[in-house]
Amino acid sequence: MRSLMDITDFTAAELDELMRTACDIIENRDEYSQQCRGKTLATLFYEPSTRTRLSFEAAMLELGGAVIGFSEASGASVSKGESVADTARIVDCYSDIIAMRHPLEGAPLVASVNATVPVINAGDGSHCHPTQTLADLLTIYRKRGGFCGLTVGFCGDLKYGRTVHSLISALSRYDGVKLVLISPDELRLPGYIRKDIIEKHNMPYTETSSLEDYLPSLDILYMTRIQQERFDDKAQYERLKYSYRLTAAKMTLARANMYVLHPLPRVNEISIDVDDDPRAVYFEQALNGKYMRMALILKLLASAVEDPVREVNKADIGVPMPGRHCINPKCIITREQELKPLFKTEGGVCRCAYCEQEAKQK
Ligand code: NCD
Repeated sequence: MRSLMDITDFTAAELDELMRTACDIIENRDEYSQQCRGKTLATLFYEPSTRTRLSFEAAMLELGGAVIGFSEASGASVSKGESVADTARIVDCYSDIIAMRHPLEGAPLVASVNATVPVINAGDGSHCHPTQTLADLLTIYRKRGGFCGLTVGFCGDLKYGRTVHSLISALSRYDGVKLVLISPDELRLPGYIRKDIIEKHNMPYTETSSLEDYLPSLDILYMTRIQQERFDDKAQYERLKYSYRLTAAKMTLARANMYVLHPLPRVNEISIDVDDDPRAVYFEQALNGKYMRMALILKLLASAVEDPVREVNKADIGVPMPGRHCINPKCIITREQELKPLFKTEGGVCRCAYCEQEAKQK
């Protein structure tokens, strides 16, 4: 049985297969309309969402399945102090598959080792957001026919933007992708992603604060919102919130076949005069998200039938390492006292198994 925590849980061949299924769903909608009949998706959303939750729900309904869940933590037992592990154990009595969004990094992983049904990470803190990446990949694929050799610019909040982290991981699977990382100095991509993904895969990259300088060289521009809710220092957010604004005038600098993506919601970073430009594909991207979530639900439910044994168990997410501890205040381990700290070592660096941040020696 498979779950989806991180986009790298799928091989490039599996991502291709998901994109092929999504394209087939687009072409042959009726054939899929009863494929999840009798199955229930639980959407456990502990932080706000419009697109992700509704597109999961629409995806399941369009497959003929049913949906249960909650859209804010205050209405759920977590407000009485229930742990993520217990919530997962309960919800899997009522559902066949779970999609979870949580402000704490690693929370969906905790759910996946405690549930007996597949769990999908629908966004955990600033860590990852693999199903947004599925939407992004299908959008790029449908517009550009593939990924190899593309120059992809990421602009905005590269520090806290989990969609950026997951899409960079996915792109590292394809040959010759070049990255242009455009952000204010304070919101640069976290070092662990630069080291463990970009440098490990020898991806050529440039870091800059100027959108205008690099716009003419891009094949894809991935705009992002400055993630207000993740800032500990509100004054810093106020200083940085208007860092970038893409306008129709700036779009004249870009190539005729350069596409603009945005995971949405947008705040200030794309002016509405860009919306009519055929290169602005962020609304199509949201629709593609629904088709990819349909393909994903089908794949994970099929894997649960073929192999009902849990793929992720406590022993293989990490091992206890006395003397090490996670110092990330946004990691699930620092909030839930009953959880056992687990670690994994990659490339000589010891990381927390839940949030993947470097662990410290006590
Ligand atoms: C993104 C998210 O939640 O990380 N939104 C989404 O899922 N479509 C991006 C964001 O909130 O800025």
